[in-house]
Amino acid sequence: YEDLKEDIVEIHDQLLQTLDQHTNWNGRQLVKYDGFWLPVLYFRPILSTQKYFRAKDNDIILATVPKSGTTWLKALTFSIVNRDVYTIDQSPLLTCNPHTLVPLLELDLYFHQENPNFQHISNPRIFSTHIPFKILPDSIRDSECKIIYICRNPLDQFISFRHFSLENNFEKDAVPLELDEAFDMFCQGIHSMGPFWDHMLGFWNAHLKNPEKVLFLKYEDLKVDIEFSVKKIAEFLGCAFSVEEEKQGLIEQIAKLCSFESLKNLEVNKTGHVHGAVKNSSFFRKGEVGGWTNYLTPAMVERFRKVLASKLDGSGLIF
Ligand code: A3P
Repeated sequence: YEDLKEDIVEIHDQLLQTLDQHTNWNGRQLVKYDGFWLPVLYFRPILSTQKYFRAKDNDIILATVPKSGTTWLKALTFSIVNRDVYTIDQSPLLTCNPHTLVPLLELDLYFHQENPNFQHISNPRIFSTHIPFKILPDSIRDSECKIIYICRNPLDQFISFRHFSLENNFEKDAVPLELDEAFDMFCQGIHSMGPFWDHMLGFWNAHLKNPEKVLFLKYEDLKVDIEFSVKKIAEFLGCAFSVEEEKQGLIEQIAKLCSFESLKNLEVNKTGHVHGAVKNSSFFRKGEVGGWTNYLTPAMVERFRKVLASKLDGSGLIF
């Protein structure tokens, strides 16, 4: 174990000396690794995940840019996969934040160690990650494990992240940049796990290449028809709902249990913290589509649209 640790610390330290760095608008330091801006705080854990995590064929990996619907996807996937284990009224979601039930590889598992203990994780194992597709451990790409990616209109993701970061006051000594300066960085792709277009395109192209391996979801589609999405996730994972389950209303019940209103109002999500210091309540702000219109000027939106159009051009991915 000590050898593993020394090995990764050495690689990490050498990389940090050579790679480009930039301070994010919230004061967090970012490092550019393999084309992506990663928070320096998570850089070593990301390298550890990349080097040491071994996916099993029946693992399920939930991948996102932060603030794109991770919490929702965790709740849904956990409920779909474990529907034979727990009835709805006994669901662990009623007493645990979704982030406690589905660990984030680079934060909950590899943050402090190179060989985390997986024994307490039930089968099939469900993990989440913010790591871009090309930086994922080889075993996630090469094994039979399934990847579900959810993305969101980047403008809503940007606003959501801004609130989340300010509310949790990640860098206590830093004075955050104003919204317009933060947005300028965002449009240049300089943000946590950015550029957002490359993050999305990595998983989008992997989905096009192998749709059985990578399911590509959009937050907005889940908002329009959550029951359709619940069915789609179950089919993708090879555990489609039976006619009997459909008749019993299980799909609606899971959709309702995992809804914004239901999770937000649970006592467990109104209090307490995850990942050390992140407020459970900060994962449930508004849960709406298009809230960015209240914050961004027409000029900002116009600039963003041009950036998005040029970056996604020809990919088939649209917003
Ligand atoms: P807003 O800040 O726009 O409200 P993540 O889970 O990736 O951290 O993303 C958080 C965003 O998803 C927040 O968006 C949050 O309110 C929203 N969200 C959390 N749980 C949700 C749910 N069950 N249904 C819909 N949106 C949800």
